[in-house]
Amino acid sequence: MRVSAAHPPSAASEQRAPAEPHPLDLVSLGKIVQIREQLLAAAAQGKKVYRLESGDPSFAVAPHVLDAIDAAARAGKTHYVPNDGIPQLREALAAKVRRQNGLQGVTASDIYVTNGAMHALYTVFGALLEPGDEVIIPDPMWTEVAENIRLAGGVPVGVTLSAADDFAYSPELVAAAITARTRAIFVNTPHNPTGAILPRETLAAIATLARDRGLWIVSDEAYEDLLFGDAAHVSIGSLPEADAEHVVSIYSFSKSHAMSGLRVGYIVTRAALLHDRIPKLLRCTINGVNSLAQWGALAAVTGSREPLAAMRAEYAKRRDLLLGALGGIDGVRPFAPRGAFYLWVELDQSLYARLGVEDADDLSRALAEQGIGSAPGDAFGRSCNDAIRFAFSCDTEMVREGSAALRRVLTGETPLAPRAA
Ligand SMILES: Cc1ncc(COP(=O)(O)O)c(C=O)c1O
Repeated sequence: MRVSAAHPPSAASEQRAPAEPHPLDLVSLGKIVQIREQLLAAAAQGKKVYRLESGDPSFAVAPHVLDAIDAAARAGKTHYVPNDGIPQLREALAAKVRRQNGLQGVTASDIYVTNGAMHALYTVFGALLEPGDEVIIPDPMWTEVAENIRLAGGVPVGVTLSAADDFAYSPELVAAAITARTRAIFVNTPHNPTGAILPRETLAAIATLARDRGLWIVSDEAYEDLLFGDAAHVSIGSLPEADAEHVVSIYSFSKSHAMSGLRVGYIVTRAALLHDRIPKLLRCTINGVNSLAQWGALAAVTGSREPLAAMRAEYAKRRDLLLGALGGIDGVRPFAPRGAFYLWVELDQSLYARLGVEDADDLSRALAEQGIGSAPGDAFGRSCNDAIRFAFSCDTEMVREGSAALRRVLTGETPLAPRAA
């Protein structure tokens, strides 16, 4: 390390041995990011790519939201805003979660506007966890949840989900994972990566468990509006079994309103401890979300829900295209998602042998070389090496063509190119 003469190293810092890894050294940049970069580079060279690796809605932001952003900019609403969110948005979000999510009694002061749900996770775990605190999470789970727990000094404890349970948490397995160090149970419905929905009975059982054992629940509901068929979203904080004071709910404008780049999410909490701590973390990380994005979010949450329904219908088409393409292939077991925009596919060894790949990770790399994006199962936890996730958030034509190309690879019709070791 270079030090200036004005700040010579102290004797103590010279002697300090790195006893513990830095928390950031435990966080990866992730396989999905690598695959995305590879596909973007291929696209830049004019190659055909199918962006089935990451979950970014293809849709444009609704016109009334854009108008609100434009009007706010022209009205000079471009200065610092209150740390916890603009009051109008907090009021509107409190009304939304009471009406739509059944979170009774929530007021504007229980809402914290964050830089997307990602930042909400960072903030909630940062405010809640002491070093070594355990948080129970599903395995598989979108990686960033475990990473944010680690960043806060916590320990993610995975509970394996299985196809036999439709990838819903098993309350018995969750109970078995509780130790003296458990601080919270993390719940995500609809679920990334499987598209599973947690039934009301499961949520009630988890709420009861958390209440009886004095645990917090952190409920990530980023995909609350992305549902298929007769699937319904239930917010765990609305259930009579839940200790509402100890349920923290997280939402996002990224998926429901296709506002991923505008970075608006929010936390709902009725706990005095978090009312005290969250504003401090918000002040020291963002000091308020981008003012224009917040005015846009206000228009989104108070405006028509028709654009949401139209997007949902289009996602349902994409889901069916992808599911249809992957049906009836030996060694390929897709799970029909009931929400979100991901298709989780379990794979058999027989498929690897037939295609000449080592495992799902190798298959994902080989697909990327064919321009087909995917996320290998082991990016989501320890229990899912023989699985792969495809996102259907890119546009419908790309999903149609990508599904067909994928089918050709998995049936062996398109041979995989030999890869560098
Ligand atoms: C389960 C889950 N939670 C939260 C997020 C974060 O969304 P954002 O930060 O865009 O609001 C994502 C994004 O993929 C997600 O899958």
